[in-house]
Amino acid sequence: MPQQLVITGGQALNGEVTISGAKNSALKLICAALLTEEPVTLTNMPDLKDVETLCALLTFMGAACKREGDSLTIQATNIGVRAPYELVSKMRASILVLGPLLARFGRAEVAMPGGCAIGDRPLDITQHGFEQMGARFILEHGMMWVKGKLKGVQIHLRLPSVGATENLMLGATLAEGTTVIENAACEPEMVDLANLLNAMGAKVKGAGTSRIEIEGVQKLHGATQAVMADRIEAGSYLVAALLAGGDKGVTVRRSPNFALKTFFEMLRATGAKFEEIDENTLFVPAQSRHFTAVELMTDYYPGVATDLQAQTMLFATQCDGISKIYEKIYENRMMHAAELRNMNASIEVINPQLALVHGKTKLSGAHVKCTDLRGGMAVVLAGLVADGYTVVHDLHHLDRGYEKLEQKLSALGAKIKREEIEAVA
Ligand code: EPU
Repeated sequence: MPQQLVITGGQALNGEVTISGAKNSALKLICAALLTEEPVTLTNMPDLKDVETLCALLTFMGAACKREGDSLTIQATNIGVRAPYELVSKMRASILVLGPLLARFGRAEVAMPGGCAIGDRPLDITQHGFEQMGARFILEHGMMWVKGKLKGVQIHLRLPSVGATENLMLGATLAEGTTVIENAACEPEMVDLANLLNAMGAKVKGAGTSRIEIEGVQKLHGATQAVMADRIEAGSYLVAALLAGGDKGVTVRRSPNFALKTFFEMLRATGAKFEEIDENTLFVPAQSRHFTAVELMTDYYPGVATDLQAQTMLFATQCDGISKIYEKIYENRMMHAAELRNMNASIEVINPQLALVHGKTKLSGAHVKCTDLRGGMAVVLAGLVADGYTVVHDLHHLDRGYEKLEQKLSALGAKIKREEIEAVA
């Protein structure tokens, strides 16, 4: 039965919240386990629908995935090379199996995931990179049939795609010779992935910079690694604390502060007050909440992440003046604007990548839906500060990427509960 979240606005948040392992790192680390016959154990593994979906795909392929508490062990001793549409279409990150399969078996059959809620999201950069490494792609009947023994080459990415960088890095670990990826994505998740690959016996240098060098090796072995903390979850709770924090303030633990510097700078420019107590702790004290307008242009790392754009748009509704939100990474990631408008926000979407937010407006609780994962978080945060009840629908988006959302918010003092939706006669 479908479910909804019911939030009673206006409750002050106080206390502590602990950030979980990063979805966008966890999924790639799981795919890395396909590169070896030996077990790979990942700790600090978030309990998320996306992790479950990827484990279902790996299990279909023949791997064993065993979860114990926050640790996940994957053993891919005898696996097939086919990733079918039914599983890939549920989650785009499933195409990250391509690199490991090609590297280990010289072939892969992976369904094309198609578009998604935030735009077209083509795969040309990944395909072109693997073609340069010697793979041949046949795109037929909605599948990518890929074959070839990968060879190390120099690859210059058309743009620093996160997924392409990761897929090529995974593939290059077992390629013959050295691969250099130029204009590579610099996101911190690249470093997490390279660390695991190196612990498995790979030779990856330069992850986290725009030039990654991977010297191919013959074989990889098992390893254990903790998933890095989720910078997007941390940024989301920071916004929650700024807008709804009470007298005692909110402490955000295990926040990867190093990975949020430009986001912090953007928020501080509005008058927002918070302290970086140490590398992994944020403290958000009670504050006046007279914020000035925000200027955001999302960008590749170290710029402000597109995955924090929706939460920032919501924050802007509580700032005085006209905030400008420019979405550089995706062609259509402002669907949440219409939901926030339902709650009385004054947002002009000038074009699908530019919105002006006129603030400050008192938000009013309403029925709203999650348009994608991050848009979903924006409406939940809006519900915390709105008048009356907010009912959030289409929770499957939220469940993909925020671990224990209601529990974490309730522990801070929010009134939020999940209920089954009864059919309206
Ligand atoms: N792009 C191309 N061609 C390609 C690859 C990408 O044109 O071959 C374009 C995309 O269409 C998009 C842009 O480049 O407009 C960025 O795509 P990228 O490949 O960098 O993103 P991704 O790997 O598909 C990951 C995250 C996203 C996050 C982006 C950007 C995962 C599982 N997903 O996606 O996370 O927005 O990087 O940082 O890691 C989310 O968590 O809500 C989410 C969407």
